[in-house]
Amino acid sequence: MDKMKFLVTGCAGFIGGHMLDFLVGKGYETVGVDNFSTGKPENMANCRGLFTFVDGDISDPAVSARAVEGVSHIIHLASVPSVPRSVANPIESMQSSVASTVVLFAAAAKAGVRRVVQAASSAAYGDSEKLPKTEDMPPAPLSPYAASKLAQEYYGMAFSASMGLDCVSLRYFNVFGPRQDPKSEYSAVIPKFITLMLEGKRPTIFGDGAQSRDFIYVGDVAAANLAAALHPGPLRGQVINVARGERIDLNQLVAKINDALGTGLAPIHAAPRTGDVLHSVADISKAKKNVGFVPEVAFDEGLRRTIEHYRKV
Ligand code: UD1
Repeated sequence: MDKMKFLVTGCAGFIGGHMLDFLVGKGYETVGVDNFSTGKPENMANCRGLFTFVDGDISDPAVSARAVEGVSHIIHLASVPSVPRSVANPIESMQSSVASTVVLFAAAAKAGVRRVVQAASSAAYGDSEKLPKTEDMPPAPLSPYAASKLAQEYYGMAFSASMGLDCVSLRYFNVFGPRQDPKSEYSAVIPKFITLMLEGKRPTIFGDGAQSRDFIYVGDVAAANLAAALHPGPLRGQVINVARGERIDLNQLVAKINDALGTGLAPIHAAPRTGDVLHSVADISKAKKNVGFVPEVAFDEGLRRTIEHYRKV
């Protein structure tokens, strides 16, 4: 087989850092690029000296051209990943997702990259009531973030069809794991609740806590990315859900963290968050059928590893 070399965009991000760990751990030659807009050097710390780092913004054609040099596979994760942040700043969302993706894809097509796996989002489904979510449902973007991520999917299809760049878009559901930022106003619920409860503080649930999410461990997301990258045969811009296919509601989540910590902290209930999706769960059969990916880390095991991490920091 031809030589393989991976590029991870957004390699200083939460998922990007785990992707580096995963690829470097398997001995792949790896390049990473990040502009530190939301990423942090600590997320790359395990791989220091074991991969090539390009410090820059892929929306600069010169940076993208440098990053894709000699690369066979791209895992494209770079983006500003927040729904509320995109509502506050829709132009930033478009530039960080859509515009930079087109620059990257143009460089990749020119350099003869074999496959691009890109991060898409379950936000594409909007609040449609049909469960589980299947990839053939019509998209319904409710935020600039969702619209940007959908536009990325369409560019994946377009470059696959007309530019000779084979892409696949993975719609991640709610990703969690060690090193996810717990402190920002835009932080995801799991790192937020774990860090609060480790300090003996009560977590705040927006609404009655019956809302549910399909949480997937970050190591499984890295494995899904690699499975999609290495899958033989063209994927032609396909869109594929990446999740566990199981629902956990927020009351259950608090109970599980209480169990793990040996605490009995009752949640505070506040007003529901505007635009919050009530339930989200994926049909994951396409991932298995089309790229051979099946999640391996049970929710409780992922939560245990995540709590272990926050105990130490
Ligand atoms: C959404 C998208 C996801 C996207 C992510 C990016 C959906 C189904 N999911 O995640 O695809 O990648 O945004 O940011 O559209 N909550 C509390 N208390 C808190 C924090 C959160 O109760 O302190 C609740 C929220 O109201 C929500 C749930 O926890 O019901 C999960 O919230 P969060 O972790 O922010 O992720 P989503 O909004 O589901």
